[in-house]
Parts: sequence; structure tokens; C-alpha cells
Amino acid sequence: MTTPRLTVVPITELEQSAFCQTDGNLRTKTLEEEFRAGVRWQKVPLRYLKLSPEELDRGIAEARQALGDSTIVLGHHYQREDIIKYADFRGDSYKLSKMAAQTRGVRFIVFCGVHFMAETADILTEPSQAVILPNLAAGCSMADMARSDDAEECWNDITSVLGGRPGEVIPVTYMNSTAAIKALCGRNGGLVCTSSNAAEAFKWAYARGKRVLFLPDQHLGRNTGLKLGMPLSDMTLWSPFRPMGGLTPDQIRNTKLILWQGHCSVHTRFTVDQVREAREKHPGVKVVVHPECTMDVVNAADMNGSTEFIVKTVSAAPAGSVWAIGTEINLVSRLAHENPDKTVFCLDPIVCPCATMYRIHPAYLLWVLEGLMAGLIINRIAVPDPTRSEALSALNRMLEVGG
Ligand code: 13P
Ligand code: SF4
Repeated sequence: MTTPRLTVVPITELEQSAFCQTDGNLRTKTLEEEFRAGVRWQKVPLRYLKLSPEELDRGIAEARQALGDSTIVLGHHYQREDIIKYADFRGDSYKLSKMAAQTRGVRFIVFCGVHFMAETADILTEPSQAVILPNLAAGCSMADMARSDDAEECWNDITSVLGGRPGEVIPVTYMNSTAAIKALCGRNGGLVCTSSNAAEAFKWAYARGKRVLFLPDQHLGRNTGLKLGMPLSDMTLWSPFRPMGGLTPDQIRNTKLILWQGHCSVHTRFTVDQVREAREKHPGVKVVVHPECTMDVVNAADMNGSTEFIVKTVSAAPAGSVWAIGTEINLVSRLAHENPDKTVFCLDPIVCPCATMYRIHPAYLLWVLEGLMAGLIINRIAVPDPTRSEALSALNRMLEVGG
């Protein structure tokens, strides 16, 4: 049985709106100026605080040159422009994890993204390769909503209600989760998915079990269940703050999909009203959103998919087409810039970067690259065994399912 616990809102969620602006200015400032946003940052040697964007630029270019083929930089689509321009590869979580798995021979992988992505890259690479996250404060507020011990408790509660027989419930975790939760899935016959392959992962799981426990994003889980034709009445919500998730044993027995009560603070900002306004102002507009948006927003949109899906869809669209996008602002403004023959805008008029992705400031990138030049591996992300090997089985199942 679970015991009641005080409701703790993860600090990163409280900080999520720290970089929201109304003037739409995503220009990089010195790290010292950006510290004024009042969020937690990892301490760096003083000299990196005052370097101007131009000095950082020169320093990073020189370091990359000196490090040569020993080092690659991976960049998630939500990284700011002044980081993504240094990425050897950019992509969504799925593409970047496949990329990491294929980097045999590269000694250092600098992951410009968030903590769970760097952990995944470490699990998918050889022990002789080092994965580096430039700023250790770059977490993910959604991933923080599923603490590993809460997830273990949830799993024990659910399986004890269901009698512990194999095939009663399969655990599936979104990539946006700790390595320990991925390990829980690996150990218990489950797998990892991303927004690129959630439907395939669910089909895989339902071919092996009667129910799915999906962590930590209730919205991706609900949207995926609906995509597969499951009625809402077959789904239930597990609250990590209530004994037994707030559910009765009968509710657990009678459900097909148990959704962990987590969400992304960036994507839950999008509303059906914003979709309506976009359609009123721009007749013929196509609305594409990320499946971390609420069910209502996903239903009101024309299409939904991972960040890579959004990039491919807008890039392949005909000149003159108009696109309203429901995802993180750095990606939306890049798409607008890279598709000057189309009209591309964000559904949300307030410019709100993902505050954790935004913590990868060029000063941190320069710091870790100069560390490598001096023979120091700063901010290595290394997942210990057995978590590593158990999480690897859940990730390998995901890679087999494809996307
Ligand atoms: P993608 O896998 O679509 O890149 O999404 C990752 C993420 O964190 C979205 O908020
Ligand atoms: Fe996490 Fe949301 Fe940021 Fe994605 S956009 S990294 S889910 S907080």
C-alpha cells in the first residue's frame, strides 16, 4: 500500500515560465545577464559569465576544430539557435537516440538537450564513450513528475491488485523519464517509446498484455490510446500524490490504460481557443501540434506528431501555405526562418521557451569543450548497472519496434 505524501511541485515546473517574454526576442545574452531570470543554473568558472555571444562563438568554433573527430555535438530541435548551429546532428528524441547508438568510435558525445536524453545516449553507447550534458540543471519538468520510488510503488500496488500474473499489465514509459523508470519497464517486460513511435509501442504492449501502465505524460498516453481507437472510459489516471493512485482495486481491474498524472508545462499552454483564433485569422491555415498537448488541442488540430514530424511536415509543405504550430518556440521560430516561402507562427502569442532546454547556454558548451581540450570530462552522465542494462532492454525493444 502507498502512504500519503505531501504534494511537492517539482521546482523546474515552477521555473518553467522564467524565460517567457512578450517581445519575442530569443537572442542569446551573456550568461551573467541570463542568470537574472532567477532560475537554478549550474555554477561555472567566473570567466564564462561575461563572455559576449561573439566571443563564445569564436571559442566554440576553435574548440571544435581542435577536438576534431573525437567529439560530436547532438542537438535537440528545442535548442536555441546559438547552440543548434554547432550540432553535427539535430533531431527529436527518437532520432537522437538512434544517432547516439550509431556513434561507435566517437570518444565524446556532447548532448545539447536535457538530462533524460543524455542518460539515454549513455545507455545506448559503449562504456568507452563519454556522454556530456553541458549544464546539469537542464532537466525536464515532466520527467521530474515521476519520481522513481513513486513509480516503483505504483507498479507494486497495481501488480498486487492484479495478482502478479504475467501479461496483466505492461509498463511503457515515455523517453522523458529517469533511467530508473526505464529500468523498471525493462525488468518487467515493458519498453520505452517516444512521440514518434508511441502508437507502435502501445500495439507491441497490447499484443503481450491486457493493460498498459504509461508514464509520465498523461496527454501523450491519452492521445495515443485515442489514436488506437480506445474509448476514454477504458483509461484511468494514476495520481502519484494519493494512496493507491487515488484508484479502487476495481478501477484498476476494469481499466485498459493507466495514465500517470504528469504533463509538459510547455505544451499544456496551448489551448483550443488559440486554434480557433488561428483559423479565424488565417483561413486555410494548417494546425500541427505536439502530442504532449491536451486531447482537446490535439483533436482541434489538423495533425500532431513529434518534433521531427513537425519539421518534416512544414519543410515538405507547398510554398504559400500557412502553418500554426503548437510546440516549443525555438523550433517554431527556426521553422519560420528556414521556410521563408511559407507563413509559420506559434499558436501561443507569448514567447515561452522550454526553460530547461534553454539552460544549455553557449557558455556551458564552451566550458565543456575547453574541458575536453584540457583533458577533463566535465558533466559526464554515466548510468550505473543494473539500471543501465535493465533500461537498455526497454530501449532496445523500442528500437526494434521502430518509429
Ligand atoms: P520529441 O521526441 O518529439 O523531440 O519530444 C521531446 C520533448 O521533450 C517534447 O517536449
Ligand atoms: Fe520536458 Fe516539456 Fe521541455 Fe519537453 S518541452 S523537455 S517535455 S519540459
